[in-house]
Amino acid sequence: MNRSLLNSYEGQIKVFLVLLVLFLSVAIVLDFRLLVSARDAIQGEVGRRVALEADVVRAELERDQMLRGLRAEAGTPPYIPPTFLNLMARQKGMLAIEILTIAGKVLSSSDPERVGRPDPLLAGNAGASDRLKAGGSVVAPLDRLARSRYATLAAYRPIQDRSRATIAVIRVLTEVPALGSVDFNLTLMAAFQAAGLVFVLTLVILFARWLLQPYRRLMSAAVQAPGQVPGLMSDVARDEPDYLVEAFQGVLDKLRAQEQELSRLKGPQGPASPSALPGDHLVGGMSSAVLVFDRTGRLTVLNPAAERLLTLDRSSAIGRKYGDLLGRAERLIDLIDRSLRTGESLSREVVPLADPGGKVTHLGAMVSPIRPADGAMGAPAPVEGVLCLLADLTEIKTLREKVGLKENLAVLGEMSAGIAHEFRNALATIHGLARLIVKGNGNGGHDPAVPREHAETILREVEGIEKVVTDFLRYARPIHLNLSEVDLKEVVENLARDLGEDARKAGVALGIEGTFPRIAADEALIRQAIRNLLMNALESFAAAAPGGERPPAGPSARRRVILRGEVPPGDQGGARIVVEDNGSGIPAEDLPRIFTPFFTTKEHGTGLGLALVQKTAVVHDGQVEVRSEAGKGASFTLVLPARPGGADSPPTL
Ligand SMILES: Nc1ncnc2c1ncn2[C@@H]1O[C@H](COP(=O)(O)OP(=O)(O)OP(=O)(O)O)[C@@H](O)[C@H]1O
Ligand SMILES: [Mg+2]
Repeated sequence: MNRSLLNSYEGQIKVFLVLLVLFLSVAIVLDFRLLVSARDAIQGEVGRRVALEADVVRAELERDQMLRGLRAEAGTPPYIPPTFLNLMARQKGMLAIEILTIAGKVLSSSDPERVGRPDPLLAGNAGASDRLKAGGSVVAPLDRLARSRYATLAAYRPIQDRSRATIAVIRVLTEVPALGSVDFNLTLMAAFQAAGLVFVLTLVILFARWLLQPYRRLMSAAVQAPGQVPGLMSDVARDEPDYLVEAFQGVLDKLRAQEQELSRLKGPQGPASPSALPGDHLVGGMSSAVLVFDRTGRLTVLNPAAERLLTLDRSSAIGRKYGDLLGRAERLIDLIDRSLRTGESLSREVVPLADPGGKVTHLGAMVSPIRPADGAMGAPAPVEGVLCLLADLTEIKTLREKVGLKENLAVLGEMSAGIAHEFRNALATIHGLARLIVKGNGNGGHDPAVPREHAETILREVEGIEKVVTDFLRYARPIHLNLSEVDLKEVVENLARDLGEDARKAGVALGIEGTFPRIAADEALIRQAIRNLLMNALESFAAAAPGGERPPAGPSARRRVILRGEVPPGDQGGARIVVEDNGSGIPAEDLPRIFTPFFTTKEHGTGLGLALVQKTAVVHDGQVEVRSEAGKGASFTLVLPARPGGADSPPTL
């Protein structure tokens, strides 16, 4: 039997009730069989007696010479007057004594009314006739006679002629009251027990439902119980009663913990401190940052998400004023101030939060006043505090910018590719002409006074324009990523070697540190992006030393550029490549424009270097971060994923 059925209380009850019904059914069947065999025994016993009576009747008839004449004439059935048979039947207490033909027709009877009628047994049962013809006797129950209230047995005996051929049959009928009552009782009992079984079955079903109803309620309550052990129910092999006990033990433990918490809050130390307000339990698990300030502007509730987002320490922050706590988010201070003063609810506000390193995080803020239910006159109740809900929007903002940038670049790419094509053709013509002048091989009509230096200048300018166009096209043209496994360590080491001479000339110490993981990327693009960042870092010292004064030489120089590799936190993989210098730095007003194509502060710069770096980052589904302060240097970080997303179809831009 299914083990889990017996393990559950409900299953055990059901098995018990089924067994009970089976037991009752077996008892009823046995009872019935007992009565049937009792009836068979009575019938057998009475049958023998009646058969004997029939023999006696035949013997008496013979003794009284009634049958003798028969034997003289073969084949002629005897005739015995009904009055004689009637007398005999009354003397013996028989219901009837009759003489029948072998075919079953009544020739003479103690009951004259029955003369001429057919006998149902002999008429329809060839076996019984054959037995009588062979000289045997037959005993059988008869259908109840109209005059009889009891069951009737009939005994048949053959009457033979001289040649021992059966020529007629004596039939003796007798009533058997005991058989009648047994039959009656059998029918009654069968009906009664069948009805009883149906009744017991109905009772059992109703009883099982009634018995199991509270248990089922208990089980469903246990499943939803707040203290139940998670995953307990999934263990099918467990006993339900054990499960119930454990679930309610869990609820009890929870109740006990809540009781302790309550008594702690009501404890002798007086009213709960702000940090222990029940509100903390509600907001503790929220992923958004929640802060509650009372009407004096002091912090009363701070959830863990807010601690992380605002880098606050709960123990020192509770009780402090918002102006003091949120110094880095001036806009948020204004919002809280306004809500406290005017009772205004301010939602969908974006608040910038700058960290000490200059990195700006964008927070979505909702500031709403806390006030008790309105007064009886319907007047708004005074503000008792404010609730601040903050969520970090930086990632959403970056994503939005990335999407926007991708769209812009696609349009720009289409337009500029056509224009640049024309532009390059024109340049090629000028270039060819200038080359002829430089070589002094102009066509015949050329003015020989044109100085050679001018032609050289034209050539240089043209080459400059050529570079601008090449760089711009590289920026604007759609890129098909050529992905391969890139060993970033090897890439940066080669670059450091290539630019080593430039660094030495500028008096800059170029160092490599940290971990450079392997990633899937377009190696040529990544090399070019890091090269641009390194070039900018080296060039930043030229700006820091205006007037072209020679930078201090040698390895002890204070000028340094560091190429650092980092593994991003978390387990998504990828790499962070940081290029850090202590050069001129970038003025705050220039920061928003440095990635714009053609923005440059250098005399011979194209302003496309950083734009290309950003494009490389975007097509790799990465990003570029910058931190800088004028006069103190700059730090650019190229953030790259382990593999550009949807790498099955390389992204294009
Ligand atoms: N490491 C850095 N330190 C200081 N300023 C920087 C640094 N990197 C970039 N900049 C500023 O950003 C501007 C744009 O840089 P970008 O690389 O795009 O162009 P560029 O260097 O001027 O010209 P190009 O790289 O095309 O020769 C620079 O002109 C410079 O003012
Ligand atoms: Mg540059």
